[in-house]
Amino acid sequence: MSDQPIDLRSDTVTKPTPDMRAAMAAAEVGDDVYGEDPTVIALEERVAALFGKEAALFTPTGSMANVLAVRSVVGVGEEVLCESSAHIARAELGAHGAFTGLTMRTWTHERGGLDLAAVESLFAPDLGPFFVPTKAISIENTHNFAGGTVLPVDDMRALRAFANSAGAAVHLDGARIWNAHVASGVPFEEYGRQVDVLAVCLSKGLGAPVGSLLVGSAEAVAEARVWRKRMGGGMRQVGILAAAGLYALDHHIERLAEDHANARLLAEACDVDPAGVETNIVAIDVPDAAAVVTAARDAGVLVGAVGPRTVRIVTHLDVSAAQAKDAAAVMAKVLAEVR
Ligand SMILES: Cc1ncc(COP(=O)(O)O)c(C=O)c1O
Repeated sequence: MSDQPIDLRSDTVTKPTPDMRAAMAAAEVGDDVYGEDPTVIALEERVAALFGKEAALFTPTGSMANVLAVRSVVGVGEEVLCESSAHIARAELGAHGAFTGLTMRTWTHERGGLDLAAVESLFAPDLGPFFVPTKAISIENTHNFAGGTVLPVDDMRALRAFANSAGAAVHLDGARIWNAHVASGVPFEEYGRQVDVLAVCLSKGLGAPVGSLLVGSAEAVAEARVWRKRMGGGMRQVGILAAAGLYALDHHIERLAEDHANARLLAEACDVDPAGVETNIVAIDVPDAAAVVTAARDAGVLVGAVGPRTVRIVTHLDVSAAQAKDAAAVMAKVLAEVR
């Protein structure tokens, strides 16, 4: 093993490749707040078309894309339903409540998936001044904290049918929809068809340094453009970053299969059933997550604690198959000592 630690904390730790940097350096740019950055426009149009939607909006982060996306379908004093360990509920630091003034209620699913019966029983129609009305149901695909699980498209279809009948919108946190697509073979457009609005990230598995997009109707995107500026997210010659995203869409989607294979290899070493590891994230139950993080770091492997007894390993563009193998040997040893 080299002196450099193998960093498996997150797929956000990747550095732009030389070819991605070259694409960034060559990007044509303009002032995007004036709507004059051709590279941003090209990225937004491309991603909107990919998901079969009218428009898209480039944002600095996935959190901002999610906040803008959810607020396009849920207003002040209204609610969104989501799974209890969804990123929007657990890891966006209350942004949806703070900025939109909405509330959330949750269902729990072992694999971060959909429990339609729970959604149906939680759903609150608008009864005037009595209950918080449900305006949207949010799903996450792949699901980060559940271990990169893929939400089956049939579940998304069933949710779409329920939401249509109930008059609610569907939001998708698709930060890692690229991984879901590669694992399931479901076309992006088919995912887009099942939801009203979605957020996608370029800065995770795809390896771009910065950038996410909200994707939806022209009306939702026009409104989100105003809110993005209000929140301080109006960026200027940002085509430099959009170019990294375009490069990633061209070159870094299909290769995610390698990350998925590396994750399964690591899962086996960590005594996690590889059949349950569908993409690039492995969630490992341990007696003391902080102790495992420290022991692994001392042995040259960086992993994350996402709960007191859950360690998370994430494979990505900057971890080769050989490094995954080395890290697997380290993790097997570390876990044997603590279990
Ligand atoms: C599922 C999911 N959604 C949204 C986000 C937020 O992205 P960002 O860190 O760019 O705000 C993350 C970040 O890891 C994520 O895992």
